[in-house]
Amino acid sequence: MLIRVEGVSFRYPRAKEYSLKNINLKVRKGEFLGILGASGSGKSTLCLTFNGIIPHSIKGEFKGDVYVKGYNTRDTSVARLSTIVGLVMQNPDSQLFNMTVEEEIAFGLENLGLNTEEIKRRVRWALKITGLEGLENEFPPNLSGGQKQRLAIASVLAMKPEVLVLDEPTSQLDPLGKEQVLSLVTLLNKKQGITIILVEHNTEYLLSFADRVIVLDKGEIILEGKPKHVFEEVETLERLGIKIPASVKIAHELKKRGILKKAALDEKELLYEILDLFRRVP
Ligand SMILES: Nc1ncnc2c1ncn2[C@@H]1O[C@H](COP(=O)(O)OP(=O)(O)O)[C@@H](O)[C@H]1O
Ligand SMILES: [Mg+2]
Repeated sequence: MLIRVEGVSFRYPRAKEYSLKNINLKVRKGEFLGILGASGSGKSTLCLTFNGIIPHSIKGEFKGDVYVKGYNTRDTSVARLSTIVGLVMQNPDSQLFNMTVEEEIAFGLENLGLNTEEIKRRVRWALKITGLEGLENEFPPNLSGGQKQRLAIASVLAMKPEVLVLDEPTSQLDPLGKEQVLSLVTLLNKKQGITIILVEHNTEYLLSFADRVIVLDKGEIILEGKPKHVFEEVETLERLGIKIPASVKIAHELKKRGILKKAALDEKELLYEILDLFRRVP
């Protein structure tokens, strides 16, 4: 087990309410975990417990334990944890502060005490995998939104983390940028075997690529399981304002009315169900 969250509750300093309430969660090596939940449900707070920012940098009332590769985050520095858990946030601008793309990627590596050859190797690898080759000498603020977010991911990847935690990485991007970033996330998980924890509102994407999803509500995990099972809870998800793919919703309504026998996860499945219906008509 790569990450174990055991009975974690967290209250920010001076906050009245707990932002996380008795969270229990395990993440396996190589797994792709999606996190869903309304705004303010605790998604970002949970992400900050994976690399020790909570409780080390953001103090407050922290109960329970988080283990990363067996290390209790309470006893392990954020610097150390960052070599295992890479965190990418919503706004790429807040994570980029070097003069060139190449320097941005190399920046964190210099602090790891790696030799120049190894740094060069890792920078080249990170540029290649994120599709930023050719932009080495570009000034980061001049990049497109999707390129900036891929650069933020490249900088984190160069540290060779085992887990990549991405907190709404596409929310500030245009449709092309969103697609670039989500394709990259899929590639990193399926081809590079990197464990992914992704907060993302694109439910179609999670249905296709996540191995498991959790749904947070007011700091608690209220649903957990394979995407196709979680997305059967249409009423609960709608109550939380979570967008449900149209085909899933249509199938759900038809099933409720006894017209379809099974739920459907996408247009193709819905179409098959409907065709099957006609086949059954004498
Ligand atoms: N720095 C903070 N201080 C006090 N309360 C906070 C802070 N950050 C977040 N919160 C509160 O914690 C709850 C969860 O927030 P957050 O984890 O950001 O949710 P999400 O990422 O799902 O939108 C919210 O009620 C929010 O107001
Ligand atoms: Mg958030």
